[in-house]
Amino acid sequence: MEAAHVARRRTESEYLIERVGSDKDAVTIDWQDGHQSKFHTIWLRDNCSCEKCGNHSGGSRFFELNMLPDSLANKTTLIDGMINIVWTADGHTTRFDPTWLRCHCYSESERKERRHTPALWDASIKSYLPEVDYQLASEDPAELLKLHDAVRRYGICLLSNAPKEPAGTEKIASLLGFVRETHYGRIFEILSTPNPTLIANAPVALRPHTDENFREPPPGIMIFHSIKASEDGGGESVMTDGFKLAADFKSLYPAQYSLLSTVPIPHRRFIEGVGLRAEAPVINLNYDGDIIEFRLNERTIAPLDLPHDLIEPVYRALAKMFELSYQSKYHLHYLLKDGEALVFDNARVLHARTGFNGNRHVRLTHVGADEFYSRWRQLRHAINGDINLL
Ligand SMILES: [Fe+2]
Repeated sequence: MEAAHVARRRTESEYLIERVGSDKDAVTIDWQDGHQSKFHTIWLRDNCSCEKCGNHSGGSRFFELNMLPDSLANKTTLIDGMINIVWTADGHTTRFDPTWLRCHCYSESERKERRHTPALWDASIKSYLPEVDYQLASEDPAELLKLHDAVRRYGICLLSNAPKEPAGTEKIASLLGFVRETHYGRIFEILSTPNPTLIANAPVALRPHTDENFREPPPGIMIFHSIKASEDGGGESVMTDGFKLAADFKSLYPAQYSLLSTVPIPHRRFIEGVGLRAEAPVINLNYDGDIIEFRLNERTIAPLDLPHDLIEPVYRALAKMFELSYQSKYHLHYLLKDGEALVFDNARVLHARTGFNGNRHVRLTHVGADEFYSRWRQLRHAINGDINLL
């Protein structure tokens, strides 16, 4: 269990308070493990969850920020193990459970510890590819959590011992969230056909890519459910960690990294019945500069629509990124057996496949990332007691 995912501490002393001090600007808490938290009084007043103020978590909120008094002078004491704040301006009382406060401490070190640190991988993941048994995950929430944790940490997990029948695809999806229906329907059948209109149905090799960047958001958690593997041993899934590509790209080509992490790349699908378009940088960073999303698909890029001086450098940067993504040292090759499924985060992991000559049937569906990570937080809360997972 990696530290960055753990909001709830292991030692009791991290929840026990040594002393509390306060003034009108901040409440300072010294914890028994030596850590010091400093909470702004404005933050504490806003997070009051008494009956009168309501609760942010449930959305029943009655206290509004325009009600903030000019002065946040207060009297803060420890009563029965709870932090008790009486606001001088109106006599309102706010109480906090120390555990809750520690889990939401926003000191630099605590924020750093809470940040998600994905485990980057390359082809060598073959020897430690996370795997969860479908039957066990269906029955045991702890096994289901293993599956969720693996996708959170590695972006990918193999689900073995899943149903071999087509009906099993939706059963797998229901473990993870809700199927997101699109113009393809609920399930996309990847079958080799003689004259396919979509390249996915042709028995040819595909380059690594993330799917459907012309949607907003693109498909979240993807499920490749193998009903029948190709008799010739072809049609291997080829998976690549986009976060690893981005990290390596950053050290190899810093200038191009800054372009691809800021300039929006448009993607478009304009065929019969659909007119989809969305744009986003290849590398999406959060405020802390951590990568939170990777989008790359050469086949669906729309004509670039950027300021004149950016066209050439953006094309060159994209070319370098594609070149990197083609390198086999990044590629996990996995031949799905009948009844196995790969579950992976399309906002991180690129997929591709090798060509084949037999009859191959893979069913593809996806669930929203919001619902998937919602279930992950619920499981972590129920099993580990975590209360603040990013
Ligand atoms: Fe695809």
